[in-house]
Amino acid sequence: MFVCLCRKITDHQLRNAVSEGARSWQEVRRMTGCSGQCGKCACTAESIVEEALLSH
Ligand code: FES
Repeated sequence: MFVCLCRKITDHQLRNAVSEGARSWQEVRRMTGCSGQCGKCACTAESIVEEALLSH
C-alpha cells in the first residue's frame, strides 16, 4: 500500500530500506525520500519503520 502519496512510496519500500541497512527512521527517510513533501505520512511511515527495525 502507498504510505507516502506525495512521493509514491509503499510500505514495502520502507521495509526494503531496513533490509538494505537503514537503522533509523531518519536513514529510511534519506534513502527513500519519504515524508519529504507535505509530511502527512510521517507518523504512519515511522511506525512501519520502527516495527521493521524491531523484527530485523
Ligand atoms: Fe508523504 Fe506527503 S504523503 S510527504
